[in-house]
Amino acid sequence: MQRKQPHIYVANWFYLSFILATALLHTFNNIAVPVSLFTLKSYSLFSGPQDAMVQWWYGHNAVGFFLTAAFLGMMYYFVPKHAGRPIYSYRLSIVHFWSLSFMYMWVGTHHLHWTALPDWASTLGATFSIMLLLPSWGGMINGIMTLSGAWDKLRTDPIMRFMILALSFYGMSTFEGPMMSLKDVNALSHYTDWTVGHVHSGALGWVAMISFGAMYHMIPKLWNTQMYSIKLINVHFWLATIGVLLYITAMWISGISQGLMWRAFDDFGNLQYSFVESVAAMHPFYAMRAIGGMFYLTGMIIMAYNCYMTIRQGLRAANTATQAAPAAA
Ligand code: HEM
Ligand code: HEM
Repeated sequence: MQRKQPHIYVANWFYLSFILATALLHTFNNIAVPVSLFTLKSYSLFSGPQDAMVQWWYGHNAVGFFLTAAFLGMMYYFVPKHAGRPIYSYRLSIVHFWSLSFMYMWVGTHHLHWTALPDWASTLGATFSIMLLLPSWGGMINGIMTLSGAWDKLRTDPIMRFMILALSFYGMSTFEGPMMSLKDVNALSHYTDWTVGHVHSGALGWVAMISFGAMYHMIPKLWNTQMYSIKLINVHFWLATIGVLLYITAMWISGISQGLMWRAFDDFGNLQYSFVESVAAMHPFYAMRAIGGMFYLTGMIIMAYNCYMTIRQGLRAANTATQAAPAAA
């Protein structure tokens, strides 16, 4: 009622939750019982399905907080800063934070569908995963709508484009995730490259792209200069976009093919394909992923060069200023 604590901006709430939830993950997933007082040997407190359940219950924090909340913190700081506008709805960002933090804690069992886990535990994970679509998309819309009234920036500013594309991939992977958490979809997607594609639409599309945007925003400010080349940021943007699209489309095709090949039966009720046949069939898609990865990596090398030149340019300007100052005096 008589709060003295100054307001904490929503980005910091996301950061706080990331630190706390990652600590929870490491604590619970490493609880062990020592064999004796005097040896260093110990065994996990949990065993069998309970162990798997505990590992994923908290393990999902790696996805929900390490790979998501931390980067949402960056998004809530850098998107309004770079757009030069306040966040579209601050109220929505608070709803986003609390509902996301609450729901992410319950979804871990979607990693263990069709295992020895009780069916209700699986259903619980799937239910919360579907509900999670709402806060995730609320956050995405909040970030994207921050640009309302300044959409022209997307045409001229590749840094803004990185941030908005990152948000679009955030939306895409948080739509795909709830879909994959449905037990029937997961029966096909689990153990296949579909999961790997989902991972990287989050990792390369969302996590890496928002980081690129943040770094391009921050580096010139830190060295009190402009980015060395806007053209090279543009080249990086397109290489990264094409790279991630090649990666995830290759994995969608190979993942769904793997799933369908593994469950195909012939007229006699035998498996139609051996495992090795399914591996051989994936070859073109792995080549496609490698090309996508090369695109992505090339973009990052260009970014490293661009940042190096920016820092050099900033240091040179600072040196000239300090040399000129005594001369002027
Ligand atoms: C509403 C949000 C999301 C939901 C409901 C969700 C759901 C899922 C599901 C069902 C799986 C497959 C589990 C399996 O069959 O093994 C999965 C895997 C995974 N997801 Fe998501 N996902 C979401 C968002 C994200 C985002 C934004 C990222 C990354 C930034 C991400 C990273 C991962 C990773 C790394 C795995 C693989 C874990 C492993 O190594 O097995 N997810 N997710
Ligand atoms: C050019 C960039 C990248 C390439 C080419 C790449 C490639 C790969 C490959 C080939 C795998 C193994 C998939 C398998 O088990 O079949 C993998 C796994 C994984 N990568 Fe990447 N990766 C890249 C960047 C990243 C980044 C930036 C992140 C995180 C921010 C990331 C997170 C992961 C995770 C969590 C897994 C485990 C997925 C699972 O077990 O389902 N990757 N990556």
